[in-house]
Amino acid sequence: MLELRGVEVGYGRVPVLKGISLELPEGQIVTLIGSNGAGKTTTLKTITGILRPHAGTILFDGRPINGISPVEAVSRGIALVPEGRRIFASLSVQENLRMGAFSRADRKQAWMRQLDGMFELFPHLAQRRHQLGGTLSGGEQQMLAIARALMSNPRLLLLDEPSMGLAPLLVEQIFAIIRDLNRRGATVLLVEQNARMALSVASVGYVMEIGSIVLHDTARRLLDNPQVQAAYLGI
Ligand SMILES: Nc1ncnc2c1ncn2[C@@H]1O[C@H](COP(=O)(O)OP(=O)(O)O)[C@@H](O)[C@H]1O
Ligand SMILES: [Mg+2]
Repeated sequence: MLELRGVEVGYGRVPVLKGISLELPEGQIVTLIGSNGAGKTTTLKTITGILRPHAGTILFDGRPINGISPVEAVSRGIALVPEGRRIFASLSVQENLRMGAFSRADRKQAWMRQLDGMFELFPHLAQRRHQLGGTLSGGEQQMLAIARALMSNPRLLLLDEPSMGLAPLLVEQIFAIIRDLNRRGATVLLVEQNARMALSVASVGYVMEIGSIVLHDTARRLLDNPQVQAAYLGI
């Protein structure tokens, strides 16, 4: 569904991604793991059109999408759940969700239907539909950020460190949600520093170090790889 070939990108003149290639087959969860500063967020920003690659190709459904705008990325079915959630603190849960449907040309009824569907998927958010985003707990904010992304009906969901700052029990919950979404048909690119959790839900993993992919393999084999264990799993 998504393929990056030799993608190079940077901020101004500072190069960050040094020619990365990865493949994301439809219906799978693929994870991109790596330390802080490796270039994971930059990769997601490049896929979603926030940054423009200097070189290389990004293919979505076999067609190049280099340099599309973030709005166009959403309309093609690519949704990003950004690092740090970025929910609108002074808007209610329901209003936050409406912002997720913003790019859709649908009439009001369509987004209301969509909203009902989202509250079925996240009953916890339904109880808080009129509560301000800023007053939610970290776990609830992460659920809201995921639900907001889903409001655009994406085929491809990009998740940037959904477990960041969450207590272990909530991390489990968020990963259960990711698994569930995948069972319902979503293709997922999961960026994580929590390599153990990420590799436990993904089929394939890519390891990124200072702007390059240094390793890619099935998640199972990466979990058993001594190099990965020493660097990312604390074994
Ligand atoms: N807006 C920016 N301007 C300049 N450099 C940046 C910016 N954002 C990130 N970087 C740099 O790009 C590199 C990769 O960052 P990032 O993609 O955020 O890594 P990760 O998500 O893996 O922690 C880091 O060296 C970081 O300092
Ligand atoms: Mg990041």
